[in-house]
Amino acid sequence: MSAFKPLVFSGVQPTGNLHLGNYLGAIRKFVALQDTSDCIYCVVDMHAITMWQDPAELEQSTREVTAAFLAAGIDPAKHIVFNQSRVMQHAELAWVFNCVARMGWLNRMTQFKDKAGKDRENASVGLFAYPTLMAADILVYRATHVPVGDDQKQHLELTRDIAQKFNNDFSSRIEALGCGVEMKVGEETVHGFFPLTEPIIEGPATRIMSLRDGTKKMSKSDPSDLSRINLTDDADTISKKIRKAKTDPAPLPSEPEGLKERPEADNLVGIYASLAEIAREEVLRQFGGQQFSVFKPALADLAVEKLAPIAGEMRRISADRGYIDGVLRDGGMRAGALAETTMKDVRRIIGLLGD
Ligand code: TYM
Repeated sequence: MSAFKPLVFSGVQPTGNLHLGNYLGAIRKFVALQDTSDCIYCVVDMHAITMWQDPAELEQSTREVTAAFLAAGIDPAKHIVFNQSRVMQHAELAWVFNCVARMGWLNRMTQFKDKAGKDRENASVGLFAYPTLMAADILVYRATHVPVGDDQKQHLELTRDIAQKFNNDFSSRIEALGCGVEMKVGEETVHGFFPLTEPIIEGPATRIMSLRDGTKKMSKSDPSDLSRINLTDDADTISKKIRKAKTDPAPLPSEPEGLKERPEADNLVGIYASLAEIAREEVLRQFGGQQFSVFKPALADLAVEKLAPIAGEMRRISADRGYIDGVLRDGGMRAGALAETTMKDVRRIIGLLGD
């Protein structure tokens, strides 16, 4: 049992084209967790600039992700919604973590390899150090739980490694200052300052795949718009994309085992299950033996029913820029106060003189 106060943190990059994977893998979970936990949800604009962003588009995307959070049902009065760059303590703690994390740890990160591609020499230093900023996002609030899609798993493992090394390196200092929590590490008890954060990666939608290729993740950066359902798509566009989704000629199986080696069918069944909030088995009980010509229209109707109201609400909220900016400003002030409390202790723990 963690003695840290339960707190949920998660972030989404404002890099355009929020899609069904972001919604089912992350944002919908953010909404559900509000009933049981204190939550902080962040639009991570400093992560976005690890790759080139047009400044005007970055501003627009930051507001759009905020509108998506609010349209999906996140309550910015009960919880905290803000954009990362407003709270400079994220960058400050990221620097400390750059000095805690080892080169070897970051060299193993698959996202850097994927995003940098063949031309690593030309990738930004920020892209390489991306995971230490992510660890700082989470740990500057000493957050205990992080809802994310499957693709963020490795980053959360690194976050735990960083927390653990910091706790071990400074355990006696943390004990002397009395600002830690007693934690069991094997047989030993250490005085830890940071929690070992738990990822929340569960349900049928932890990895939604492209509608054009069931072996590739649905992604903001796929050049084909037909590969993803954007949260801003209207009903006709959603239906068209599902109609055109790649499938195979066989009918749907009656059991999940029958979806093995059928990545496109597996993906569409997973999307249905997740949208309807039922198990895959239940979807196959309803549609087993049926052709895609029957399943796809049912999936399209369900997707429109669940997503069109969010798109409508996003449009309504996006029209009121003053409201969105007010939410981010207020959230930034509240997050900043929490982050500064942590950083006062971090500076003392390390021996960085301040007031
Ligand atoms: P980002 O902006 O790429 O994605 C936001 C969230 O959406 C999830 N996701 C998916 N889930 C299921 N299927 C998919 N195809 C899919 N594509 C994306 C992601 O897993 C994520 O949960 N590094 C993070 C942002 C971040 C962050 C953080 C997250 C920065 N600091 C601290 C948590 C905590 C990212 O790039 O997410």
